[in-house]
Amino acid sequence: MSGEAQRRAPIGVFDSGVGGLTVLHELRRALGRESTIYLGDEARMPYGPRAAQEVLEFSKQAMRWFADPPGLATQQCKLVVLACNTSTAVALDTVRDLFDLPIIGVVRPGAVAAVSASARRHVGVVATEGTVRSGAYLRAVRDVDPLTRVTQVACPELVPIVEAGEASSPRAQDAVRRYCEPLVAEGVDTVLLGCTHYPLLRSAFETALGPGVRVVDSARTTALAVREVLESHHLLRDGDGATHRVFATGPRERFRAIARTIFGEELPTIEEAHLGS
Ligand code: DGL
Repeated sequence: MSGEAQRRAPIGVFDSGVGGLTVLHELRRALGRESTIYLGDEARMPYGPRAAQEVLEFSKQAMRWFADPPGLATQQCKLVVLACNTSTAVALDTVRDLFDLPIIGVVRPGAVAAVSASARRHVGVVATEGTVRSGAYLRAVRDVDPLTRVTQVACPELVPIVEAGEASSPRAQDAVRRYCEPLVAEGVDTVLLGCTHYPLLRSAFETALGPGVRVVDSARTTALAVREVLESHHLLRDGDGATHRVFATGPRERFRAIARTIFGEELPTIEEAHLGS
C-alpha cells in the first residue's frame, strides 16, 4: 500500500461478538477521522469458556479475514485491534507471527492502565475463565512492573448477564458482589475490567468494591495506544468522509438486537461475514 492509501485505510476491530463495540466506541472518540471495520464472531460467541486451542483457531481465522479481505468490497486495514480479551490472551503472539498485519491487543494497554492507577501496587483482574487461565494479565502486569501483585477472579456469569440486557439488574449486582469478595478480602486497590463486557457493569463494580478501590478498563488505553502508534508512523487519516462498517458471523438480527440492548443504539447496516469452513 502507498503511504496515502495506508493513511486512508480503515482500522480493523475484532471481537468474539458485540462486546468489542466498547473498544470501537473509544477508538472513534480518540480517532474521529479514522474509518473502521468491525468484525464480531457472534455465531461462535462466547469465547471465554472455550479451550485455548479453539480460541486460537477462531482468532487465526479472523486475522486471515483481515489480512486477506474477502471480495473487493472490503479493504485491507492499516492496523487491527484484537478487542477481545480472551482472544488477545490466548492468540496475540501467534497471530502476530503468522500474519503480515500490525495487531494491537487489549491486554498490555489494560495492564499499563492498571499499574499506573494502582497506588499500593496490588491489582485485581476480573476476566473470563479463558483469560484468567491463560495467565496473560499476570505476565503483562509483571512486564510493566514486576513488583505489582495481581489477584485474578474469573467471572463466568457476567457475559451472559450483559448479553441478556440485565447489566443494571439486581442479578448483575449480586453476581458482581460475589466476584468482588476475594478482591476486597485480598486488599487490592485497583481493579482492571479485563473483558469487553465489563465496562457495562462498571457502576456495579464500583459499588461492590467501595470508594477506596479504583476501577479501570482497557478500552480507553487501547484507543490511546492505537493513536500513538499511528501518529508516530504518520499514519493518521486527515480530512472528512470516514466510513464505518460492521460485519458479523451468524444471524445479523441477533447481533443487532443484542447491540441495541447493550448499548441502546442502532448500528449501521450489519454485513455478513464468514469465518472458517
Ligand atoms: N470478548 C470476550 C472477552 O473480552 C468476552 C465475551 C466472550 O466470552 O466471548 O474476553
